[in-house]
Amino acid sequence: MPRLGTENAFSVIGKAKKFEKEVLEPQGKKLVYLQIGEPGFNTPANINEAAIKAIKDNQTHYTATPGIPQLREAVAKSTGKYTGVDYKPEDVVVVAGGKPIMFYMINALIDEGDEVIIPNPGYPIYGSVTEYLGGKVVPIQLKEENDFNFSAEELESKITPKTKLIIVNSPQNPTGGVYTRGLLEKIAQIAVKHDLWVLSDEIYNEMVHEGEHVSITSMPGMPERTVVLNGCSKTYAMTGYRIGWGVTKNAQMAKALEQLACNDISCVNTPAQYAAIEAVTGPQDEVKKMLTEYKVRRDLMVKMVNEIPGMKCHAPKGAFYLMVNVKQIMDKLGITSAELCDRVMKEANVLILPGTVFGFFGEDFVRFSYVSTQEMIIEGLTRIKNYLSKVMS
Ligand SMILES: Cc1ncc(COP(=O)(O)O)c(C=O)c1O
Repeated sequence: MPRLGTENAFSVIGKAKKFEKEVLEPQGKKLVYLQIGEPGFNTPANINEAAIKAIKDNQTHYTATPGIPQLREAVAKSTGKYTGVDYKPEDVVVVAGGKPIMFYMINALIDEGDEVIIPNPGYPIYGSVTEYLGGKVVPIQLKEENDFNFSAEELESKITPKTKLIIVNSPQNPTGGVYTRGLLEKIAQIAVKHDLWVLSDEIYNEMVHEGEHVSITSMPGMPERTVVLNGCSKTYAMTGYRIGWGVTKNAQMAKALEQLACNDISCVNTPAQYAAIEAVTGPQDEVKKMLTEYKVRRDLMVKMVNEIPGMKCHAPKGAFYLMVNVKQIMDKLGITSAELCDRVMKEANVLILPGTVFGFFGEDFVRFSYVSTQEMIIEGLTRIKNYLSKVMS
């Protein structure tokens, strides 16, 4: 157990809620939450209705472990459409959110001492699971000056005879960075050359505000060595439904994912699977509306953040996060990014996350998310600006 990490974003919110209840509420104050990693919209009504209908129709029993056939078919088609790969229903394993695919794939691949190349700053569960299973985390730094991409040369320099897997996440959490086509082509060439697996976490694939989302599985030699991780959580604002999937042209890997899911959950809850069919095959207007609004919120937040003394950031191309450089503030006040977030919570009453929640290379940063309403974004950033104007002057 000591090797197993966690997603500290969840514990931070626990601490913040306690602070809000015990300290702020008696003074009639509230926190502004600008750290949340989930869509700030309700699940579209047609999707909820599909879940309700499934319950009314008594679709409340076990299904086959990898998912009901209509859903596997819908996911194969939708993944095929955006990747250009001819996926079939048998290439799809439906699981309880995108996250379990990390656990299952790494479990299927990694033996004691095997190395996994992981983006840093990055989603913390990749490293947590790798270490838990006896693997070694090899971080690769996403650099601010490269729009949070890394270089192919750097990647190649990290490869050893023990390397088994490269994790790719684009659009990325926490930076909002989108990997360029050129970088993905090079990663694919390296994976083929060294016979490596790729876990391509595409949970934010619809959330690209500029440029294009390119899936590494669309590149030569990749569908058989890649598992695409995706799901309904972010695109359809369905985080609580817990539904996601892994898609791969490698039949042995698909079998392994299914077998691990069978040992773990038997199958995903059945009404959620019906809701997911509606999400994937139904009208996409609500998704488009959400995306338009995220872009407006992003632009508002980027503008306001850059007006705060000591904070700077570029407009991220994807997802709904902003990785803000706070080095100037840390140097001036002699504090870490975690201490800064703590002070911002206590003094400005706004919750944001330290970059170190996402790894060592996150130290000079804090992460904001722009899922909250424009009103809350304005309120939160005004509070931070007032506080930092005082302490930075
Ligand atoms: C990069 C990334 N992958 C996967 C997930 C997990 O998604 P799910 O809630 O579907 O398990 C998240 C959630 O924040 C994420 O940021």
